[in-house]
Amino acid sequence: MPCMTQIGKLTIDAPFFQAGLAGYSDTAMRLVARKHGCPLCVTEALLDQFLINGGKALVQAEIDPDDHPIVGQLMGSNPEDIAKGCKILVKLGYDIVDINLACPVKKIRKKARGGHLLSEPDTAIDILKAVKQAVGDDVPLTVKLRRGTDDSAVATSNFHKLFQAVIDQGFAGAVVHGRSVTQKYIGPSRWSFLKSLVDEYGQTPNFNIGGSGDIWDAHDIFRMIAHTGVRLVSVARGCIGNPWIFQQARLLMDNPDADPTSLAPTIDQQRQVLLEHFELSQRIHGERMASLMMRKFGIKFSVHHPAPMDVKDAFIKVKCLDDWHGVLEAHYGLSQSQDCVAAL
Ligand SMILES: Cc1cc2nc3c(=O)[nH]c(=O)nc-3n(C[C@H](O)[C@H](O)[C@H](O)COP(=O)(O)O)c2cc1C
Repeated sequence: MPCMTQIGKLTIDAPFFQAGLAGYSDTAMRLVARKHGCPLCVTEALLDQFLINGGKALVQAEIDPDDHPIVGQLMGSNPEDIAKGCKILVKLGYDIVDINLACPVKKIRKKARGGHLLSEPDTAIDILKAVKQAVGDDVPLTVKLRRGTDDSAVATSNFHKLFQAVIDQGFAGAVVHGRSVTQKYIGPSRWSFLKSLVDEYGQTPNFNIGGSGDIWDAHDIFRMIAHTGVRLVSVARGCIGNPWIFQQARLLMDNPDADPTSLAPTIDQQRQVLLEHFELSQRIHGERMASLMMRKFGIKFSVHHPAPMDVKDAFIKVKCLDDWHGVLEAHYGLSQSQDCVAAL
């Protein structure tokens, strides 16, 4: 199993990374993932306009010193603005800059951003050129794609035109989600499409093809590599509330016959992560916002608990740090003294 992956001048020591996940993959989630063996993390898609206008978005894009290597993902609709946004990300210290040409969300596509650009390959190619011109070789550039707008012949042709341009512009890689834009999240990610891409473009020097879609556990990472030949696997919904997937993937990387469930988190380990994740989130977003965000995570974390439904119901009601600690006391063995330490 190849472990070292070279992305431009950056080397990572495992063939997987934490995906961009809007509403989730903030600094807090990324730091927790890294502590569990994740070698590379992607930000949520950042809007070029927000970065250019400065203010809160720019502050939120600042990088914690422990949050490297990090991919800053950018989304926009016109070449000049995306290029400006890229320069800002480079200045902020991002290790890789990634352009999102994949997002299927309606309000994003309506503004000709994200996945919409797969249907306008000429504009998308202008974006790639502007970005390359702005960034040069300062940091590696990558793109996030879906396998096409839909299943039509024209969508396939657009995809390949764009993919070839990504290579021609000297990008260091592309991560392809094997669902189409119109498919959104319905139905499976077409891994056979990822394999066909590797067959066609996989020998391109200094260019990595990554795969995304239907990675739910550590085994799936290596199944995707074996099935498709991609060099990198994007872990997305499978790591929300499950940072242990990265430890388990490292176990399998070292020993493919190992049993990843041997690293299933104990209640103590879950409590530790739940305390830490909330604490980090609160530091970034403040208590009120962190409480709302952590509800979503709590629901996902609850699946590791022996009484998942009770725990899920309890997390849904969280409104503040005290409520969070209340759930941990009731279900995760948090004692009053730990509670005090956590609050320090
Ligand atoms: C809630 C949510 C938010 C997402 N946000 C982003 C994003 O900001 N950038 C991105 O490249 N992909 C984003 N994605 C797509 C994922 O990175 C990934 O490609 C997709 O979920 C397929 O992988 P999976 O089936 O293993 O979850 C998002 C997906 C979800 C479910």
